[in-house]
Amino acid sequence: PKHYNITLLPGDGIGPEVVSVAKNVLSLVGSRHGIEFGFQEMPVGGAALDLVGVPLPDETLSVAKQSDAILLGAIGGYKWDKNEKHLKPETGLLQLRAGLGVFANLRPATVLPQLVDSSTLKKEVAEGVDLMVVRELTGGIYFGQPRGFSTTEKGEEIGFNTEVYATYEIDRIARVAFETARKRCGKLCSVDKANVLEASMLWRKRVTLMASDYPDVELTHMYVDNAAMQLIRDPKQFDTIVTNNIFGDILSDEASMLTGSIGMLPSACLGESGPGLFEPIHGSAPDIAGQLGLFCLFYLILQDKANPLATVLSVAMLLRYGLQEEYAAITIESAVLDTLNNGFRTGDIFSSGKKLVGCKEIGEEVMKSVIKLFRNR
Ligand code: NAD
Ligand code: IPM
Ligand code: MN
Repeated sequence: PKHYNITLLPGDGIGPEVVSVAKNVLSLVGSRHGIEFGFQEMPVGGAALDLVGVPLPDETLSVAKQSDAILLGAIGGYKWDKNEKHLKPETGLLQLRAGLGVFANLRPATVLPQLVDSSTLKKEVAEGVDLMVVRELTGGIYFGQPRGFSTTEKGEEIGFNTEVYATYEIDRIARVAFETARKRCGKLCSVDKANVLEASMLWRKRVTLMASDYPDVELTHMYVDNAAMQLIRDPKQFDTIVTNNIFGDILSDEASMLTGSIGMLPSACLGESGPGLFEPIHGSAPDIAGQLGLFCLFYLILQDKANPLATVLSVAMLLRYGLQEEYAAITIESAVLDTLNNGFRTGDIFSSGKKLVGCKEIGEEVMKSVIKLFRNR
């Protein structure tokens, strides 16, 4: 059979819970599609800090680079929040993205008919939303120099960061966005702050230039503040959105709420070559992982509240974009829909009349759905 090596980076908080479910689903789907997976689990984030004192050990990055695809849970937690910048879990994640060169982050937001009632928006607004945020992931204010802390002449503390984009960084993300839009509905909205920021002025200029290569794609531009409003007012106007690192971070969390829960949204981080990194867009959710004080371990076992479907759907993206295993990706997506059709819901997407289950149990239901799909063939 075909064989792929997958690096698992469970990370912190709910990360290990959701990755464990997604791994089991991936193994099962693989066995049905004649694909064998080898898994290697490596520490990242707070887990790596506790183990070896850095948020991204060299070995984690080198194992990841040598594998066929990488699945990340989430990183971060109260315990490490006061760490110096280079010892923060979040720094490890940024080093990982930069180290892998995954500059393009695809973050789809689809409102499933089964979950329209879980959205906080009116049914007629949310129904049928299907958009893709193409977020630049290895540049902008997250990485720009100069950055740091300093003091003014009066001795007051300052912290500063720089939003910077070079033409090659804009061009390569714009290329991904135009190609993505072309395969979808042919509509691309570039979101920026070109009325104020130089980096955005250059962004708009380069995206506009590239449009001549894509006469079949309808390009529009929107300022980010308006885009944040339009996403709630009339989200169906959007097909593909391309934007910088920080705006993409914020707008994709906003878009997640159209779909019912951030616990549903997967993502794919892709580069020019090398393995892709696949991760839910949500974080380590310390409030439901319960990494509080002495009871850490007990809470983790007792809570079991996390929705693993964002990670399960990230595994579908891993199969589609990382391994070109489209059929296996479709199996996972169909199994998730079947599980929702059967009425199973974690707390974040629960509505009356449905069956409230935990992280593990909804994972088992997805596996049952996979088996059912194959039995019915
Ligand atoms: P978060 O996404 O972890 O949680 C926000 C809210 O959404 C919480 O109420 C949480 O319970 C809920 N939520 C998130 N995922 C869920 C899921 N799968 N099922 C059910 N509910 C879910 O964001 P935050 O609270 O701002 O950040 C917590 C920590 O996670 C911080 O340390 C932050 O830096 C980190 N973080 C990491 C990533 C990542 O690893 N990619 C992403 C975002 C935040
Ligand atoms: C995400 C997170 C990260 C980001 C943080 C944890 C560095 O919010 O993956 O969306 O801002 O990119
Ligand atoms: Mn985020």
